[in-house]
Formats: sequence, structure tokens, C-alpha cells
Amino acid sequence: MQPAFDVDQLSRPEVIRNPYPYYDLLRDQSPIFGYRDYPPGTMPGVDDPKPSWVVLNFEDVAAVAWDHESFSSRDSLQEESSAPSLMLVNHDRPEHSRLRKIAAKAFQPSSIKSFAPQVDALVAACMDDFFVADQPVDVMADYCAMLPSRVMAHLFGMPAEMDRDVNNWATAFMLSADIGPEERQAYNVEAMAFFDTHVKEQMDRIAQGKEIPGPLLDAFIRTEVDGDRLSFEEIVRFCMTVTVAGAETTSFYLGNLITVFADFPDIWRTFADDPGQFDAIYKEVLRFHGPPQRLFRVATRDITIGKADIRRGDWVACFFGAANYDPDAFPNPYEFRLNRKNASRHMSFGYGIHRCLGAPLAQLEAESTARMLRERYRQIERAGEPVWQDVSLLNHGLQSNPVIFRARD
Ligand code: HEM
Repeated sequence: MQPAFDVDQLSRPEVIRNPYPYYDLLRDQSPIFGYRDYPPGTMPGVDDPKPSWVVLNFEDVAAVAWDHESFSSRDSLQEESSAPSLMLVNHDRPEHSRLRKIAAKAFQPSSIKSFAPQVDALVAACMDDFFVADQPVDVMADYCAMLPSRVMAHLFGMPAEMDRDVNNWATAFMLSADIGPEERQAYNVEAMAFFDTHVKEQMDRIAQGKEIPGPLLDAFIRTEVDGDRLSFEEIVRFCMTVTVAGAETTSFYLGNLITVFADFPDIWRTFADDPGQFDAIYKEVLRFHGPPQRLFRVATRDITIGKADIRRGDWVACFFGAANYDPDAFPNPYEFRLNRKNASRHMSFGYGIHRCLGAPLAQLEAESTARMLRERYRQIERAGEPVWQDVSLLNHGLQSNPVIFRARD
């Protein structure tokens, strides 16, 4: 008989470390009410989380994420908190459409592809800085933490030595580290103050007809759609949004990719023999070890999802991570498989109008990392037990991931 497990236990450390068996215990009852946890940007120890519905089945998660009219992304708890509200992520239509049109142009896949040479250079430099062949390295301590932050710093034209600041700002906002409310708040204030000054300086340079160093910030400032541009304040908030949405998720993703290479030698061998398999590996890692486990919505009207009568104003936690392990959508979900016919249907980039805007950039960083690991090393071995973070279900990822990269002969 299965041990009793209640929805209000979903925030326990052992669940956060490995949530999938616990989702299985609750999936038949989903949607189920009574979960309390913090949305990103709120302050544990200061803010008071609202009790919410938990949605675990693939079809129900897709229905909630798709129905942006019945499920709002505006987060009253975050709006009332002292943290800055995010662009797009916390906007509903029509404002979301206006912002997304401009941001999508700034982020268009062809522009992101043009960043490839710089991303490759940052990947190579990060590997030179942090990896020593044939000795244990904790890839989470440096490489996975710093690469996405260095990419962000580069794209915003920030001084390269601010990479640790970017990392601290993202970690404080995303709640995955056990830090106190004062420190969290101090990081938010520091980040907003930096972007405020930095964006002002870069806009002045552009107004004087000069070039600026950060290609993404340049695009945020110059992009115009139907005569509409982002205001100064919107650009500052976009910088903050992209920092918190893009740095930590990608850090965890890279750690999860390397852990798959270390724990499944046959997957590493498949990739080493045929790098064309990367796309399949990349997608299955997103399903198998997807970073975002759940995000919140708020019902804008009374609505029935599955067996649940959800009332207007109710909070709903959309468990993308549980949808990825729903056996009705992905048979034998605990098996890492490269031949799933529906591999692209994983929910780790969300679904619907809020689907991740930065996915092509995340893919660029992951692909470049895998390609350079293959060029430099013949094997990746485990050098100690991986430790999964157990502070927040927002992101499933490793706190420490010791491996040995075996040099090519
Ligand atoms: C593997 C890495 C990443 C994962 C797993 C991920 C995941 C997600 C998810 C699940 C959403 C949907 C949020 C929702 O439905 O409320 C999202 C949205 C978003 N992501 Fe990502 N993300 C990643 C990397 C990035 C990067 C690198 C950037 C930017 C450089 C980025 C920027 C954004 C933005 C701006 C949104 C908001 C889109 C909107 O609301 O219209 N993400 N991401």
C-alpha cells in the first residue's frame, strides 16, 4: 500500500529533490486544492502564499496554460511585494500582445543565431576557466552557474566581471537558494538600480549616433513595431525579466544535461558517435529533467477543469514538470528515451501565449556546451553523488554535480 501523501506536503525538501514519484501519488486526484508555495519574486518569511489548486495531468496542464483568458498570469502577491514585476511573464492580453510583438522581434531566431560565435567563445572560455581534465569538478559551482550569466552580461553590454552579480540577482529572485528576505531584497534593489543607470547610458549613446556593445539591449532600445517602441521603464524591466527568466533556468538545464551524460554513458556514446542526435537528447532532457516544475495562474472566472470546480480568483499551480511525467502522454516516463514520437510536446518551455521567448538562446548555450564537451573529452564520469536543490519547486536542478571529464588521448 502506498504511504499517505497530502498535497500540502509538496513543498517538503525530499519532494523538491525528486518530485516525480510524489506527483504519481496525487495524479488521480488532480486538480486538487490545498498547496501553498511562493511564486517567483515573492519573499519567503515576509509574503504569505495563497492556497492553490494543483494541476498535474498533461491534458489539464495544457488546458490551463492555453486558456490565458480564464487563467491570468498577473500575480497579485508579487505585485504587492517589493520585488519588481516581470515583463510578459506577469502580463495578460492586451498588454502582453503589445510587449510580445516588440520582444519577439528583438528575440527573433535569426538574431539569436547571430549570437552563436560569441556564445561559442564564452563556452570555450568558461570551460578553460573551470574544467580540469581527469579531476573531479563540481559543474554547478562554476560552469553552469556562470555561463548563462556571462551570456546575459554580454548581451546587455555589461562589464564582464559583473557575471557573478547577474547570477546572484537571478538566484535571489527565483527562490532556489536559501537566503533571507533582506538579502533577497538587497539584490533586487541592486539589479534595478544597475539596469536603470546602464539603460540610461546606453540610450544616450544611441541618441548620439554611437554603437553600443550589448546586442540584445541594442535590440530592445531600437526595435519598433508599427511605430511602437518600448519605453525606458519597460526596457529596464525587460533587462530584469530576461536576467531572472534566462539565467537560472539555463544554469539548471545545463547541469541536468551534464548529469544525463554522466549517469547514462550510452547516451553520451550515442552523442559522441553521432552529434546529429543532440536535438533528440536536448528535448528528452527537457522532459526528463525539465527545470520549471510549476508556475501559478489566477482564475478570472468560475471554470471546471477535470473534476474540479475552480472559482474566480482561485490560484492554480500549473505543474509543467508533472505533465512531463504523465504516463498517458509519455509512456514509461522514468525511461530516458531518444525515440519518443511526441518529444517536442514536453512542457518545459510552457505552452500557449507565454511559451518561452528565450528557448532558442537556451538551445544555443546547450548545443555549444555539448559540442565542446565532445571535442575536448572522451567520457564524462560521475565523481560523487549529485545533490538536487531542495529549496523551491520552481526549478528542478542540481545544487552540486561532481563529475570527471576524461581527456581525449
Ligand atoms: C532551459 C532554459 C529555459 C527554460 C526551461 C525556460 C522556461 C520557460 C517557461 C516554462 C516559460 C513560460 C512561463 C509561463 O507560462 O508563465 C518561459 C517564459 C519566458 N522565458 Fe524562458 N526558459 C528558459 C530560458 C530562457 C532564456 C535563456 C530566456 C531569455 C534570454 C528566457 C526568457 C523568457 C521570457 C521573456 C518568458 C516570458 C514569455 C511570455 O510570457 O510571453 N527563457 N520560460
